Amino acid sequence: MQWRRRHCCTHTANFLYLLSLLGLLVFLVHLHKLTGMPWWRGHPVVYGGEHHTTKAKLNTSASAWRFVIVPLLTSRVDANISSPEEEGVSSPRGHSRFENTLAGNTSHSVEGDLSGTITQGPFTYIINEPAKCADSRPAPFLVLLIATEARQVEARNAIRQTWGNESVAPALGFIRLFLLGKNEGELGLLQQRMLEAESRRYHDIIQQDFLDTYKNLTFKTLMGINWVAIHCPQAGYVMKTDSDMFVNTENLIYKLLRPEQQLKKNYFTGNNMRDFAPNRNTNSKWYMSPELYPGEKYPTFCSGTGYVFSGDLAMKLYRASLRIRILHLEDVFVGVCLANLRIEPTPPPNEFLFNHWRVSYSSCKYSHLITSHGFHPNELLKYWNHLQSNKHNACINRSRAGRPHVNRTNKRTAQ
Ligand SMILES: *[C@@H]1O[C@H](CO)[C@@H](O)[C@H](O)[C@H]1NC(C)=O
Ligand SMILES: *[C@@H]1O[C@H](CO)[C@@H](O)[C@H](O)[C@H]1NC(C)=O
Ligand SMILES: *[C@@H]1O[C@H](CO)[C@@H](O)[C@H](O)[C@H]1NC(C)=O
Ligand SMILES: *[C@@H]1O[C@H](CO)[C@@H](O)[C@H](O)[C@H]1NC(C)=O
Ligand SMILES: *[C@@H]1O[C@H](CO)[C@@H](O)[C@H](O)[C@H]1NC(C)=O
Ligand SMILES: *[C@@H]1O[C@H](CO)[C@@H](O)[C@H](O)[C@H]1NC(C)=O
Ligand SMILES: *[C@@H]1O[C@H](CO)[C@@H](O)[C@H](O)[C@H]1NC(C)=O
Repeated sequence: MQWRRRHCCTHTANFLYLLSLLGLLVFLVHLHKLTGMPWWRGHPVVYGGEHHTTKAKLNTSASAWRFVIVPLLTSRVDANISSPEEEGVSSPRGHSRFENTLAGNTSHSVEGDLSGTITQGPFTYIINEPAKCADSRPAPFLVLLIATEARQVEARNAIRQTWGNESVAPALGFIRLFLLGKNEGELGLLQQRMLEAESRRYHDIIQQDFLDTYKNLTFKTLMGINWVAIHCPQAGYVMKTDSDMFVNTENLIYKLLRPEQQLKKNYFTGNNMRDFAPNRNTNSKWYMSPELYPGEKYPTFCSGTGYVFSGDLAMKLYRASLRIRILHLEDVFVGVCLANLRIEPTPPPNEFLFNHWRVSYSSCKYSHLITSHGFHPNELLKYWNHLQSNKHNACINRSRAGRPHVNRTNKRTAQ
């Protein structure tokens, strides 16, 4: 009471204002409980236990789901994705937005343009494995294209021993290729000699004579896509990923792509980036100049940390790339090629499969996801081996009673 007397009415007004804000907050939390929809503007990530169907995802009462707010740390965070006018009309507009803004030529049909041959592109191979696919018995179900740099020897070795090991799918046809450019200078020469020795040992390296720089990444991807189009057109599926990734190739093959089913056509999936705007901040890693890309939005693209497409798309994508101005952001560029082909990336069956950030490790989560980003080679070996030895009881510590078993010591045992 004394407080009110000593402070005048403006303070009381402030107090009431705060109180009303609090009320609104409480209301929103309750709304969240009623609708099951998160009320915050962050990005909730749900890690499922046993269920992966859409139905399970919609089951808002299931206590087996854990919500984790993942700050948008990676990729085009600062892109303008949330302007309200876009949200309302995003899907129906589809390609038209792209047609308005794209530098490329969308007016001709691609399906009618499949005749004729393509070349290896503007650069020549320093190292190639032209017979790798033809030698594969059976024809490859999956070709892994892994962007890497010469110095990342450890990462390549870790991948060979873990998710890139052919023994993941011994009977299916599984090809792993590391994609590289060249380096200049004395160090470059030394690295080149080591790389050639590595190539003779493993026969899983292809390299062209463009400078291996971040801005040339698109050439690296195009080299891989071109390789599949020319040397492996019979490939079932292709995945492009990076050397600092954890890829659960077993899940990718057996749960997502499913060898027992007919091969899909015109299929492209990954972490869908929808309605992203070009980053116009010149200091950003993802800066895109208005001269290079004048449009206000990118077409839907999939994060370059891991996208998957059907083998038939390799030739189509490569052809499309020839008519479109090269953008240095390879994933955006591939998205533009797709839009040019009028192919919309398929959303993955559940949005937590392809993670372009790092998901904290637990055997349960990792037995369900496909990609997770940001691994040192040693971590890759450690987590992969842990996952292999816990594969069949990966989620055993959560819940017989239907809720996660909250046990603080578990976190440590999982590592
Ligand atoms: C939703 O989850 C609850 C608790 O896990 C379960 O009992 C119920 O069968 C589920 N409903 C549907 C439709 O999946
Ligand atoms: C976001 O987009 C809207 C509409 O395109 C624009 O008016 C606004 O200035 C943008 N905001 C930022 C931070 O770029
Ligand atoms: C777009 O493609 C059409 C048909 O191939 C062609 O006639 C036209 O000149 C092209 N336009 C541009 C700007 O490249
Ligand atoms: C791939 O896995 C097999 C079986 O686990 C193993 O024998 C082989 O050494 C692995 N390959 C590499 C390059 O580590
Ligand atoms: C890309 O590679 C080409 C060919 O080696 C080189 O001339 C060019 O400078 C490189 N571009 C960048 C941005 O590094
Ligand atoms: C938590 O896990 C530890 C071993 O990881 C176990 O000894 C302990 O009994 C568990 N606590 C509860 C409450 O289940
Ligand atoms: C489950 O918990 C037990 C101890 O409670 C532990 O030994 C085991 O490693 C845990 N398994 C997984 C997959 O976390």
